[in-house]
Amino acid sequence: MALHRQILAAERPPRYLIAVLPHYGLADQLVGIITLFYWAFLTGRAFQISTGGQPLPPLEAAFDAPFVNWTRPAGDPPVLTEHLHLKYKGEMRYPAMHPAVPNLSEYGSMRLINGFYDFLSTENLSTIPEVEDNKSVLFMTSNRGCTQRIFNNPHYSQKLYDVGLRPETAFACAFRFLFAPSQVTRSAPGWQLAKSRLHPPPNANDSMTEGQDPSSKPENVLRIGIQIRVGDRVYRSHTDDVQFEDYMPYFDCARTIERHKRTSETTKVVWYLVSDSQRLKEKALERFGPDLLVTSTQPNTHVAHTQPKDLEEADKIMTGLGSAAADMLGLAESDYFVVTQNSGFGRIGALLSGRWNHIWSLSSESNERLMCRPADYVRLEDMASTWSGV
Ligand SMILES: *[C@@H]1O[C@H](CO)[C@@H](O)[C@H](O)[C@H]1NC(C)=O
Ligand SMILES: *[C@@H]1O[C@H](CO)[C@@H](O)[C@H](O)[C@H]1NC(C)=O
Ligand SMILES: *[C@@H]1O[C@H](CO)[C@@H](O)[C@H](O)[C@H]1NC(C)=O
Ligand SMILES: *[C@@H]1O[C@H](CO)[C@@H](O)[C@H](O)[C@H]1NC(C)=O
Ligand SMILES: *[C@@H]1O[C@H](CO)[C@@H](O)[C@H](O)[C@H]1NC(C)=O
Repeated sequence: MALHRQILAAERPPRYLIAVLPHYGLADQLVGIITLFYWAFLTGRAFQISTGGQPLPPLEAAFDAPFVNWTRPAGDPPVLTEHLHLKYKGEMRYPAMHPAVPNLSEYGSMRLINGFYDFLSTENLSTIPEVEDNKSVLFMTSNRGCTQRIFNNPHYSQKLYDVGLRPETAFACAFRFLFAPSQVTRSAPGWQLAKSRLHPPPNANDSMTEGQDPSSKPENVLRIGIQIRVGDRVYRSHTDDVQFEDYMPYFDCARTIERHKRTSETTKVVWYLVSDSQRLKEKALERFGPDLLVTSTQPNTHVAHTQPKDLEEADKIMTGLGSAAADMLGLAESDYFVVTQNSGFGRIGALLSGRWNHIWSLSSESNERLMCRPADYVRLEDMASTWSGV
């Protein structure tokens, strides 16, 4: 925090790492941003986040900055960020010189999209992208995570342990350091529902209603988060017609986990379902009734699949980002998780809960039936090195 403040106040030489949002969904954005945050932290740079001039909702729509102000002020010339855009066709690096930026040699950039970036767990990051470490400002973009594998890096593992970080909590710690839910996110249904239904009031008297036994203890709720990603087709077409039976394995899995995780203390079991499909949520409600919580039956928007056409539309996308963040943070309040394998949304929510061996992951494509027995949970190491990483 001190370093960040001093660099911004020009009390130290300018050393910045700026994460440019990748044109992907919120989960992939967060996975990349948090890895880049560690890069900045480990190499002594102030950390900022920018849309880089892309038509994407800024993260400020969903998150406040509780400890360091990561807002990159507007005004960076396009040449500094445009080659990091997903659809950019030209050379993926800076030209030798450019009239808009006479000191272009002070800037470096990197694009870490869709790869497995093994150097993060082996190299001295101060020597990347330039051996000399003499670039004042780095613009980087990533949709890949390395917050666990970076603990394998001999240059940094001691420092990470010394400040109290651990591989299984590093992602959640950095997230809570950078982000707190904004007003928009806190008023979204996903947040409200989690707050009121996943956390029974600690003092049973607070929720006392007529006729209740005044000596009754507060509920001991076992909370199972379920995230089902149906697929991008729910955003593209107006028909959101799911075959409910196709998704029964998720609910069967939740039932199995419920059986082996409930104890004699458990007084109530609640399932918290998030999904991109409104129809699936409606059908699940019909099927499982009041102890199944669903966030909302409003149509979803996916940040990377919607283009703001006018101001009103842009406003909707901002609110859309807030509700996505609220669903993710609401999901994070669960104890155990059943998530869709090839989707970042559920796994990020689950990781933000900061728990241990608590995730079961189902593939929507494969016919293989996961049993969801106690030992069938996903190992965090495996999660860290597959798909988008962590
Ligand atoms: C954070 O930084 C931005 C950009 O410099 C500035 O506009 C904003 O007011 C700052 N926020 C706070 C809370 O200081
Ligand atoms: C490059 O020059 C511009 C214009 O003078 C200045 O605002 C900017 O801070 C400089 N960048 C670096 C990294 O020194
Ligand atoms: C950084 O180091 C390289 C290689 O020594 C040099 O060519 C370049 O001018 C240096 N850049 C700055 C901004 O000092
Ligand atoms: C990384 O390399 C830089 C520049 O060569 C050096 O100053 C620094 O001590 C190295 N850091 C680590 C953690 O090895
Ligand atoms: C709840 O209310 C009862 C009756 O008013 C009171 O005796 C008890 O101390 C309260 N419990 C707590 C935890 O405040």
